This record gives sequence, C-alpha cells and structure tokens, in this order.
Amino acid sequence: TVSTLPEPRQFQFKILVTGDVGVGKTSIVKRYMDGGFSTDYRLTIGVDFSLKNIEWNESTNVNLQLWDIAGHERFGNMTAVYYRHASAAIIVFDPTRPHTFKSVSRWYEDLISKFSEDGIRWEIPVLLLANKCDLPYAKIDFEEVHEFCEEHGFVGWFPTSAKENINIDSAMMYLVEKILKNK
Ligand code: GTP
Ligand code: MG
Repeated sequence: TVSTLPEPRQFQFKILVTGDVGVGKTSIVKRYMDGGFSTDYRLTIGVDFSLKNIEWNESTNVNLQLWDIAGHERFGNMTAVYYRHASAAIIVFDPTRPHTFKSVSRWYEDLISKFSEDGIRWEIPVLLLANKCDLPYAKIDFEEVHEFCEEHGFVGWFPTSAKENINIDSAMMYLVEKILKNK
C-alpha cells in the first residue's frame, strides 16, 4: 500500500506593522516581501497589505498577511478594523530620531487598549525593531531598549536595516515562531 503524507496544517496570521512616520515600516515589509529597497520616501496612506506564504516545515504552512500602517494614523486614531483578528504586532522606531522611540510606548498602549474588550485582554506577541541600524549615527542604547522590552512585555527586539538587509528575515521568523507557540 502507498501511504500518503498528511496535508500540512494551514495557518493565517495577520501582523500589524506600526510606528512613527518615516521609521521604515514600508521598507521593512518590502525588503521582507520581495527583497528590494528604495531610498525614495513615499508615505503610506491608510494601510498597505502584503501576503507571503511560508512553508514553515513539512507539516506547517503559514500565510502571512502584513498590515503596513501609515505612521500618519497616529496613536489612538487607528480604526478597530486594523486590529481585528491580528495575531501579532511589530512596532518600529528609528534610532537616528530618538522621539520615535519615545512614541513606541504610545503605539504599544494603543495596541493594548484595542486588544481589551469587556474587561478581557487577549495577548498577542509584540516585537520591537530598531531600524536603520546601518546609519553610523543610529545610536542604540542596548541596555535601555532591552529593559524597556522586559518592562512592557515585548517578546523581544532586533536592530534591523531594511537597506542593508540586516535581521529582517530573522525578526519575522522569530515572530512567527512566537505566534506558532501560542497555537
Ligand atoms: P510612513 O508610511 O510615512 O509611516 O513611513 P514608513 O515607516 O513606511 O517609512 P518608509 O519605509 O517609507 O521609509 C522612510 C525613509 O527611510 C525612506 O527614505 C527609506 O528609504 C528610508 N529607510 C527605510 N529603512 C531604512 C534603513 O534601514 N536604512 C536607511 N539608511 N534608510 C532607510
Ligand atoms: Mg509606509
């Protein structure tokens, strides 16, 4: 008799990508999706969607849906639709502009408030990315960022560069692994 392999499990994960204007959210998504990078800045209006299928292993298939949200949406103004059924979130900052790190906690609080309903809070993994680490004046206080993540319950953080393709894949894989662990 011929034994057939069982069909792989198919997962659909929606991941939100947030953070201030110009920190590199669209560039990170683009790098992850098709490997490209552009120095031109085209601000995102509303939200852009991208899909990627990952053959995680022989028994697991993951359909990633990235929601690249405009920094202009500002904290508190993101519509509830953006958050619905999200499996995880990424908050990006730009270490060359310290105020974008200050904003991280506000983006985070916004997320948490949206994930609380009728007094019930459901937890999703949230990852922090310090992008543009290729720039020499991108100063990151590793200790400070690490402590911030521990304090706020982030699942972790990575210094990344969409330009030089540093840690983009690793960060996404790390997050997907965290989501899968909760399944
Ligand atoms: P909004 O859509 O307005 O919220 O901005 P965004 O977060 O999507 O930023 P975007 O990806 O459009 O990038 C803004 C600018 O930063 C662009 O000029 C990019 O080329 C540049 N940029 C993005 N990532 C990097 C990086 O890793 N290194 C360097 N040097 N520049 C980057
Ligand atoms: Mg954008």
